[in-house]
Amino acid sequence: MFELKYHTPIEWTEAVLADFDSFLQDHAAAEKKASGMAMSMLSHYQDRKRLVKEMTDLALEELIHFKQVLKLLMARDVPLANDKKDLYIKEVRSVFRHGQDEFFMDRMLVAAVIEARGHERFSLVAEALEPGRDKDFYVSIAKSEAKHKNLFVELAYEYFDKEDVDKRLEEILIAEGDICSKLPFRAALH
Ligand SMILES: [Fe+2]
Ligand SMILES: [Fe+2]
Repeated sequence: MFELKYHTPIEWTEAVLADFDSFLQDHAAAEKKASGMAMSMLSHYQDRKRLVKEMTDLALEELIHFKQVLKLLMARDVPLANDKKDLYIKEVRSVFRHGQDEFFMDRMLVAAVIEARGHERFSLVAEALEPGRDKDFYVSIAKSEAKHKNLFVELAYEYFDKEDVDKRLEEILIAEGDICSKLPFRAALH
């Protein structure tokens, strides 16, 4: 549906594979936050029927992802870690415009782009892993993040003109690519 402007290089995947336990801890935190984000969206926009339904489904799905990552951590005897500040999320969210409609549109499009980055990076992890349970899991996670990426753009189309959405999405994609390209590679999603 849309393409990211910055493509994650192999050095990121290498950093992840070098410390996969830390990556799993970060991934668990990311799924938990994704579920919370969906809950916060439906609380803020309770009058938007389709959004409420979709965000309810999404919150549940992301929480199931959390549970699945937790299972991988437990199998490795690795505990959950304290949430660390996610500079990427902080910076990407800084593009939000003021104004009720602008803020609403930006929240959906930023969410779409964050899901797209998740899709890209989980796909890289899936490709790099040896065949087995972890690889199968990342293949399915990547698929589901691709669905979420499209879901948020569809929601934006539901509430705003397509042309305005596409124009703003392009701006956000450029900003996200710039932010992402400047961050160091860590054994973390961002
Ligand atoms: Fe997820
Ligand atoms: Fe997601």
